[in-house]
Amino acid sequence: MRKVDIFDTTLRDGEQVPGASLNRDEKIQVAHQLAELGVDVIEAGFAASSPGDFAAVKNIAEQVEGPVITALARAVESDIVAVAEAVKPAKRPRIHIVLGTSDTHLKHKFRKSRQQIMDMGVDAVKFAKDLCEDIEYSTEDASRSDFDYLCETVEAVIDAGATVVNIPDTVGYAVPEQWGNLISRLIATVPNIGKAKVSVHCHNDLGMATANSLAAIKAGATQVECTINGVGERAGNASLEEIVMAVKMRGDFYDARTGIETTQIYATSLLVRDLMHMPVQRNKAIVGSNAFAHSSGIHQDGFLKHRENYEIMSPSDVGIEKSDIVLTARSGRHALRHRLELLGYTYDENQKEEFEKVHVRFLNVADRQKEVADEDLHRIVTDMPVEVPEQYLLEDFRVTSSHSGQADASVRLHVSGETIEEGGVGDNQILAALNAVDRITKLPTYVKDIQTSSNGRDSAHHVQVSVGFHDQSFNSHASDTDVVKASIQAYLHSLNQLVARHGGLIVE
Ligand code: KIV
Ligand code: ZN
Repeated sequence: MRKVDIFDTTLRDGEQVPGASLNRDEKIQVAHQLAELGVDVIEAGFAASSPGDFAAVKNIAEQVEGPVITALARAVESDIVAVAEAVKPAKRPRIHIVLGTSDTHLKHKFRKSRQQIMDMGVDAVKFAKDLCEDIEYSTEDASRSDFDYLCETVEAVIDAGATVVNIPDTVGYAVPEQWGNLISRLIATVPNIGKAKVSVHCHNDLGMATANSLAAIKAGATQVECTINGVGERAGNASLEEIVMAVKMRGDFYDARTGIETTQIYATSLLVRDLMHMPVQRNKAIVGSNAFAHSSGIHQDGFLKHRENYEIMSPSDVGIEKSDIVLTARSGRHALRHRLELLGYTYDENQKEEFEKVHVRFLNVADRQKEVADEDLHRIVTDMPVEVPEQYLLEDFRVTSSHSGQADASVRLHVSGETIEEGGVGDNQILAALNAVDRITKLPTYVKDIQTSSNGRDSAHHVQVSVGFHDQSFNSHASDTDVVKASIQAYLHSLNQLVARHGGLIVE
């Protein structure tokens, strides 16, 4: 099988995303994890962009062993020199040069002719070649470029010494059939293509970055550029985990393989999510929290009879501990019985009536709350009330934040007949408010995940919170036109569930 190189650009294209930037230590931490994951190339940054990024690329080149280490340069000497200096300590350094080929970029960005741009690219490669053996050349906006001019450019830069030619769909305009076709035509047309690796770099503006990357692999590309969790400019880059698992699961079709240690995928995804503060959507393929969760009765029944009925890969293949059977109003008897058995409640043939009673009660509870947790099941079986008492009730709150400082919050709660008010600080208003709540409740919990979404300026904010307490999670959601209020409400709901489950007795 053909080996396809995985070029990870989480630390360059991914890190350009507003709010996702990483400091030097964080970049180094991610780079070490990418090496564990087994990526072939790490694009560590854009060395000329700032002294901090230069230092991060250099430190990664010094410390991270295994992958090729590269960084991006425009086709100008100062950028190329910066990359050459920064990647020099790596065992396998590479300089990555980018220059547009589309008429749009030529006319409206560079204001130069096709010939002038091609000469500039060739000169840049020749200049870089004196500083480093391995040179990648990216024809930015290739998907909107004239095909003949694209091929001439690729041929010229290979002649000048490029070892990898990267064909980017910079604006996410390509569609899979056409993109695959472009790559195979390019391979068939450029006479010296055998002297370089052919790479693609796809963006997700039309949601097709993974499909386009795979079409290119099928057409003969031997390197794909991608990011963890698909982070990147605008709608993101092609997602590493999706491409890698598609190639693994459908190696029969692609006749290709990658060198990725797939069991490291989930750990890498969590690290990037946390350090970049970029939540992963629940239904995201491979690494979303629902990717291995089964909730409908038909699926749960089929899954419990034979895993492969509803799973094409095992969660352990990507480093996730186990699949999840989520008990909701759509769950069937089979899933309920299975979960009860795990909790030690077995109903045999002679106990059909008892089981039916439990099932009816379960459905009543499931209709009222989104998910039925194990503790709810204990209460259902033992006929105890399942309603979550509102131990903590929001009375009022105030938050302030400023351009340069931390946010402050003051929160007033009604707690068992008493009113308690506390203040809190945090990086933003939501965190400040939740910290104020923590100072009131004094519970030894932690926020595992908080996701906010809204459909526009005037619509409600929907907040999902997952609160951790040892190995247990309490998930809640709330909506309000005020995102801070919705966050406090969701948080309190999770804390109320926790208190209810432990009968009010929380021991650290
Ligand atoms: O999207 C793009 O074209 C890029 C290049 C630098 C490869 O990020
Ligand atoms: Zn890009």
